[in-house]
Amino acid sequence: MAKKNIGAVLALYPCPVIVVGAMVDEKPTWTLVAHAGTVAHSHLMVSLVQAHYINKGIRANGKLSVNVVDASWLAEADKMGTISGNKADKSGTFSWTMGENGAPLINDAKVSIECEVDGNYELEHFDHFICKILATYADETVLNEKGKIDYHTFKPVLFEFPTYEYFVTGDKVGDCGKMNR
Ligand SMILES: Cc1cc2nc3c(=O)[nH]c(=O)nc-3n(C[C@H](O)[C@H](O)[C@H](O)COP(=O)(O)O)c2cc1C
Repeated sequence: MAKKNIGAVLALYPCPVIVVGAMVDEKPTWTLVAHAGTVAHSHLMVSLVQAHYINKGIRANGKLSVNVVDASWLAEADKMGTISGNKADKSGTFSWTMGENGAPLINDAKVSIECEVDGNYELEHFDHFICKILATYADETVLNEKGKIDYHTFKPVLFEFPTYEYFVTGDKVGDCGKMNR
């Protein structure tokens, strides 16, 4: 089958959406982010336009939280992608708890990851924060009997850029490493 070259476009979708939390001037602020991912087995990368309000707090404190979005609080999360802290105070949007390491965690998020910034790969007008994972907080309802996050129960919301739609994770299609026996 011949594939058509559609150009140098973003096509690595769908990807999980997160709400990044950080403290700015002693108050929490929240920003919706789709371009984030795993780096090594100890770090995450979060890609943020440098002009965003939240970058100021991340640069100053070196701490942030990654709150994994599920459908139960998607509407509020979506709002964090349309309002900037440069124009409106978002600190009252969520009920939150301060993490053990100084990053604000969203109480509605069933999974929140607390991170410390280890580096910043600046590219074009983006900060790419390389974030060391310090702690992972999970609601008991999404943990299995082994204490691990159960992705049959916990369904992160996914996003795709071309049509600006949200999805949720879907059906199991195989057991990793056991598909050719
Ligand atoms: C679905 C979605 C995904 C987004 N992903 C990103 C992203 O990966 N990086 C980014 O810099 N902005 C992203 N944004 C835009 C910011 O969330 C938005 O501009 C926000 O208002 C910035 O807030 P702040 O200025 O308070 O930090 C996304 C917006 C939406 C709706």
